[in-house]
Amino acid sequence: MSHHFVILARENGPYLISGEFTYLDVQGNPQKTEGKMIALCRCGQSGNKPFCDGTHKKVGFVAPALELKLTDDTHS
Ligand code: FES
Repeated sequence: MSHHFVILARENGPYLISGEFTYLDVQGNPQKTEGKMIALCRCGQSGNKPFCDGTHKKVGFVAPALELKLTDDTHS
């Protein structure tokens, strides 16, 4: 089984990660995305790190957009 996911850095905003994968929450517990998109803070100002809470708009965060498409075939 391979894992595919996309990381999109929104212009002046968070990292949006979509796909099916498992990540660790702040307590170290595995959480499955089950296809849901998650938004991770990249401005450093979120009150709900590591997730984006929209604060980037209030602080005027400026950064370019970028997109990465990744495939993890190590589980084939
Ligand atoms: S990127 Fe949204 S709060 Fe930091």
